Amino acid sequence: MRKPMVAGNWKMHGTRAAAKSLLESISQGAAKLSDVDVVVLPSFVHLALAEELLSHTNVAWGAQNLYLGESGAFTGEVSGLMLKEYGCEYVLVGHSERRHVFHEGLALVADKLKAALAANLTPILCLGETLAQRENGETEAVVAEQLTTAMAAVGIKAFEKVVLAYEPVWAIGTGLTASPEQAQAVHAFIRQKIAQQDVALADTRRILYGGSVKADNASGLFSMSDIDGALVGGASLDPKSFLAICQAAS
Ligand code: 13P
Repeated sequence: MRKPMVAGNWKMHGTRAAAKSLLESISQGAAKLSDVDVVVLPSFVHLALAEELLSHTNVAWGAQNLYLGESGAFTGEVSGLMLKEYGCEYVLVGHSERRHVFHEGLALVADKLKAALAANLTPILCLGETLAQRENGETEAVVAEQLTTAMAAVGIKAFEKVVLAYEPVWAIGTGLTASPEQAQAVHAFIRQKIAQQDVALADTRRILYGGSVKADNASGLFSMSDIDGALVGGASLDPKSFLAICQAAS
């Protein structure tokens, strides 16, 4: 049995006051939820606040990005070691906004996955195709390439610690969601790709769906056999919506 997970990717949102209020509301609401892992991913500058307010609650926290190595002359970057110091358990790797807005290629994403594992963080590795790629029938090829480069870089054994997230780029922040069936098909494909290397491991990996998950579409997505939770953007900034999604997963 895979325990569901709901992670809130706050992206570049939130004043200090808003972050404080959101963290407080989520930790209070999540106290009543037991069979779902609830995770928040605020911006770097709010991680100290997350540590202060979430320690000793059942909400875990993490970062949206990291850079390679422990320290160095990399202006503007943050290492996995630094994230661990603020109690981070998770880090996003290969989010589509990193891949497409910041032009992170397959090799850099693979290196970041390695860096996250080396820092003892749990990476949430994001995979997904653009609208043009879907329309060209390239969804499986794109997702397979993203996944296999990552698996080749760290080795299949290391995937024991990796959470996966399928986020079709065309469904992110657009209000368009993949239908439960469309999402399920890609989730099953991802699991089967992992199974080609390790059947038992594939069965234990959590694959989250991301892309306009809201309180009213979460249950349909979670009813699919290979969808193990959600990576939520916009709706994670509203405590009621986020907690309703967590409740739907639990
Ligand atoms: P939205 O839920 O706002 O579509 O964002 C999804 C996402 O990118 C989560 O990482």
